[in-house]
Amino acid sequence: MSRAIGVFDSGVGGLTVVRELIRQLPGESIIYFGDTARVPYGIKSKETVIRFSIENILFLLKQEVKLICIACNTVSSIALPVIRGHFRVPMVGVISPGAREAVYATKNKRIGVIGTKATIASGAYEREIKALDERIRITSSACPLFVPFVEEGWLNQKAVLEVAGVYLEPMKKAKVDTLILGCTHYPLLKSVLKKVMGPGVTLIDSAKQVATEVKQILSADGLLEANLKPTRSFYVSDGPAWFSGLARRFLGHPVNNVIKAESF
Ligand code: DGL
Repeated sequence: MSRAIGVFDSGVGGLTVVRELIRQLPGESIIYFGDTARVPYGIKSKETVIRFSIENILFLLKQEVKLICIACNTVSSIALPVIRGHFRVPMVGVISPGAREAVYATKNKRIGVIGTKATIASGAYEREIKALDERIRITSSACPLFVPFVEEGWLNQKAVLEVAGVYLEPMKKAKVDTLILGCTHYPLLKSVLKKVMGPGVTLIDSAKQVATEVKQILSADGLLEANLKPTRSFYVSDGPAWFSGLARRFLGHPVNNVIKAESF
């Protein structure tokens, strides 16, 4: 029986990871769940994010997915380490792949990390980076205004540039040569971030590495598929029309047939 890859996020941002999964694994079916009723997770407590994550995982397991990809940085940093051991299904988060790529990319051993308040407070990226190379200096900043900017479609406006200038000041002072975009929404702000940081700074968007890791796990477990007609299903906990409207920005093409999940 052919089984899909399950992907979940606090909302619509995880579609940046789905986009890369489709590119690298075109023969795989995907079931996506966006917890649009309870987004944002980035300002919630660890206990709450863990509870929501378990509910989301149980929803995907009911659809008999073969692997769960946690596209949300907040969940990957504060919930995944706690819940991973409680499920048999393989789970891939976004922190280790992003950290690995950044360690590989940096030449001056100074890495910047930006993310939600919860992700930055967790220190998850720092831990992963230090475990790989303890000489690396890390500068972190929470950038809570970026998520609403992206959801409003403000990707290049002057106001975004000004806010980014304030948020990224510590990164510039620290002379980082590599910046981890530690939140699902930030890849859409790449051109502004590039403008602020300058051409010498490498921006790390972990989606590519995440998709590569999913591919490696499926291949090692003999679970890779080459469906000629893979299916892509999109579930949300609220506002399917809102999700459809935003999906194009994150995925690159429109998403129709968004379903409101019954259990939420
Ligand atoms: N998906 C979240 C993340 O990557 C951003 C939105 C939220 O705060 O829920 O951290």
